[in-house]
Amino acid sequence: MDKALRRPVIAGNWKMNNTPSQAKALIEEMKPLVAGADCDVVLCVPYIDLYAAMEAAEGSNIKIGAENVHWAEKGAFTGEVSAQMLKEAGVPYVIIGHSERRQYFGETDVTVRNRVRAALDAGLKIILCVGEVLSERKLGITSEVVCAQTEIALAGVKAEELKNIIIAYEPVWAIGTGETATPEQANEVCKIIRDLIARLYGKDEADRFIIQYGGSMNDANAAELLAQYDVDGGLIGGASLKADKFAAIVKAASV
Ligand code: 13P
Repeated sequence: MDKALRRPVIAGNWKMNNTPSQAKALIEEMKPLVAGADCDVVLCVPYIDLYAAMEAAEGSNIKIGAENVHWAEKGAFTGEVSAQMLKEAGVPYVIIGHSERRQYFGETDVTVRNRVRAALDAGLKIILCVGEVLSERKLGITSEVVCAQTEIALAGVKAEELKNIIIAYEPVWAIGTGETATPEQANEVCKIIRDLIARLYGKDEADRFIIQYGGSMNDANAAELLAQYDVDGGLIGGASLKADKFAAIVKAASV
């Protein structure tokens, strides 16, 4: 399959940055810079920014996402937000299983799987994050870690639901550190994930499946990373907080 048949997805993950008014201003600045891009453009923002972000992005090619979602339909879960709440608010995308959730907030492979189920049932599009920590890479078990995270997250997911899932391969040692995986390292693990999807769902599904790289992707290194055969886009942290840098990555994906 020709890589060109997979439409790249460039997604920003703002993490805990930008107030609603800052979100509006940044999206207004980004809109003309990413207009007409030949890739999908998504910005995942803090819950409190969702309405301002969607209002600012209306009529543009920027889609908005949340950064997490709870697995329960409703109930006594103080501070949490359900998939149905996001759906009714008109939010199309959600990040699930980000390494910062795993590292700081007790996220496990099983809770990631439960969130995936809830988001799919609500009709949301998911950016599912997987990735090894440095000690796991040093031990030579990157493939095992990433495959286990992926397989558990996808437990019970049917082939026809895969179109609503993107996987973002984010090596934890490359997040926010300025240390990017080399294009070869990024491609190697994205290919491992695609091969796993092929084993689980067949080659046709794997060929169509979108796999992003994330971890210190920026305007200077994006083109080379995105040119790799199995890298279909990026999940961008720091560089998604600057309109010109994010737009340059969107442009690099649009060739
Ligand atoms: P940085 O691009 O800041 O390294 O963050 C990557 C990331 O965690 C995106 O989800």
